[in-house]
Amino acid sequence: MTTGTISKAQDPAAGKRPPGRDASAWTVHDLTIDARWIHPLDAEDRADLLTVLRAGHRPGQPLLDYRRRDFPFGSRVLAKLKRAFEDALNGRGVALVKGLPREGVSPEEFELLTWAIGLHVGVARPQDKLSRYINMVKDVGADYRSPTGRGYSSRAQLDFHIDGADIVALSCYNQAPEGGDSMCTSSVAAYRQLLIERPDLAEVLREPFPFSRQGEQKEGEVAFRQTPIYDLRGDNVFCGWNRNRVINGARLPNAPEISATQHEAMDSLDEILRRPNLMYLMRLEAGDLQLLSNHTALHSRTEFRDDEAEDKKRTLYRLWLSMPDAPPLPPSLAAFWGAIEPGIVRGGIEGHHYDDACQRFDSAQAEAMGMRFDPQGMGL
Ligand SMILES: [Fe+2]
Repeated sequence: MTTGTISKAQDPAAGKRPPGRDASAWTVHDLTIDARWIHPLDAEDRADLLTVLRAGHRPGQPLLDYRRRDFPFGSRVLAKLKRAFEDALNGRGVALVKGLPREGVSPEEFELLTWAIGLHVGVARPQDKLSRYINMVKDVGADYRSPTGRGYSSRAQLDFHIDGADIVALSCYNQAPEGGDSMCTSSVAAYRQLLIERPDLAEVLREPFPFSRQGEQKEGEVAFRQTPIYDLRGDNVFCGWNRNRVINGARLPNAPEISATQHEAMDSLDEILRRPNLMYLMRLEAGDLQLLSNHTALHSRTEFRDDEAEDKKRTLYRLWLSMPDAPPLPPSLAAFWGAIEPGIVRGGIEGHHYDDACQRFDSAQAEAMGMRFDPQGMGL
């Protein structure tokens, strides 16, 4: 068995280059020696963002009623932000913007800033049963392991997983005094490693698995979807791993059982994802904006101890974005994403409260981004 990590040019099998884009198959070493995935903002950028944000802020107005033109950020800061999003989407799969305005900024303003940045780069997607387009990631005592549990409202350590849109953007307003570190591993690097060590299990992960919808489906819709954990399209590797959803999915009526070999493949993947040479630990600081591609990066978070003071509690804002330049996906993932070709709004969880305001926003924002929006084409 080989225990090292594949070098970029190394061939895991028989003289062919490994699947997936090299940039997206990063290791901890890669992120450590080359910091170009970190995109710092300076004082001028912060001043621009904050001035424009405050001029466009209409207190009390729902986020869905804002449009991109309400926040005409300067081209300098916009170029930096767009580079970071592009890096996350079609480069390394991970990017970190550092230095959003935070000093003297209220939680409400910080949430709006996160939203306003999203308006410039993609189409925000609803994320849960309540059809919320931005979620405050904060411990409200939820049980992550319950059949309808979601990690963002608990303080538990989470399994490695993807979120439900091309890009997940997580802005940090307050970090916890202890714990709450982000863990992030390239799913492409993990796949390459599994191919070296256990090509048979890598193949098993390309079979369909039952992914629970955690009770977020509408009446009459299926409670789980069967999609592979890994698949390829062209030279690209795509990963949709989420242990919690698969374990819960297998418990649902009419769901297929998970075989012993499938369990072995899942365990091997999770073991590889946590190897110190592949799992990057990132402690978000106030003013950070973490960007991840859900196609090529998996994320998790350590358990945390929160601050006693309400205004200091760990608070992050999470945005899911369908992106105009997202890669085409394998047909096997259509059930999960809704649309697999680029230029069409995909992903998100429509939930139980998707109404006219949601649809108006989706249509207008898709048009602003030059994308097609099909109300029936939503994923998850
Ligand atoms: Fe997540």
